[in-house]
Amino acid sequence: MALSFADASFDVVWSIEAGPHMPDKAVFARELMRVLKPGGVLVVADWNQRDDRQIPLNYWEKPVMQQLLDQWSHPAFSSIEGFSELLAATGFVQGDVTTADWTEQTLPSWLDSIWQGIARPKGLVSFGGAGFIKSLREVPTILLMRLAFGAGLCRFGMFRARRSQTGAQESLASEQLTAGSRAVRG
Ligand SMILES: C[S@@+](CC[C@H](N)C(=O)[O-])C[C@H]1O[C@@H](n2cnc3c(N)ncnc32)[C@H](O)[C@@H]1O
Repeated sequence: MALSFADASFDVVWSIEAGPHMPDKAVFARELMRVLKPGGVLVVADWNQRDDRQIPLNYWEKPVMQQLLDQWSHPAFSSIEGFSELLAATGFVQGDVTTADWTEQTLPSWLDSIWQGIARPKGLVSFGGAGFIKSLREVPTILLMRLAFGAGLCRFGMFRARRSQTGAQESLASEQLTAGSRAVRG
């Protein structure tokens, strides 16, 4: 959440399936953008839930979502729309945040991850008895993830954002100026 890197350190920043662990998604978004150099590119690939501002979670989705959060110690999932808005709100983004839904493309990986454990057990066995049992305990959660992604409760989100040439404050000020001049022009 508080990266040890200085501002504007990297040409490219990427994050894969780590967002659900972040308790404050706005701070996470800001940190990702802060460490990018002006003109640098952020790519995020993440598990998200459906945007419940559009379609609230129903009677079975709520307990399934709670189970998914509890099982892997996730404080919360973002939605694709919500995290895109948080990236834009950092004031560091040049132009629009690009998003895509890769649920369909990533769906086979859930069952495949179970199948790989069966087809190639060497990796699992090498963790010893306790590790093997721990891996087996993952299976119900993986099946629940497959159910959630297949049923539209979860979505695999891709995000791309370019860091603006200016800092967050300057960028925000310029956006406000543009919005202000739009309002004045009516
Ligand atoms: C589902 S794994 C993804 C691992 C890896 N990115 C990959 O694609 O294989 C979730 C990752 O989130 C990381 N993580 C959890 N809490 C974190 C935090 N507060 N800051 C940074 N990373 C965190 C964990 O170390 C774990 O590697």
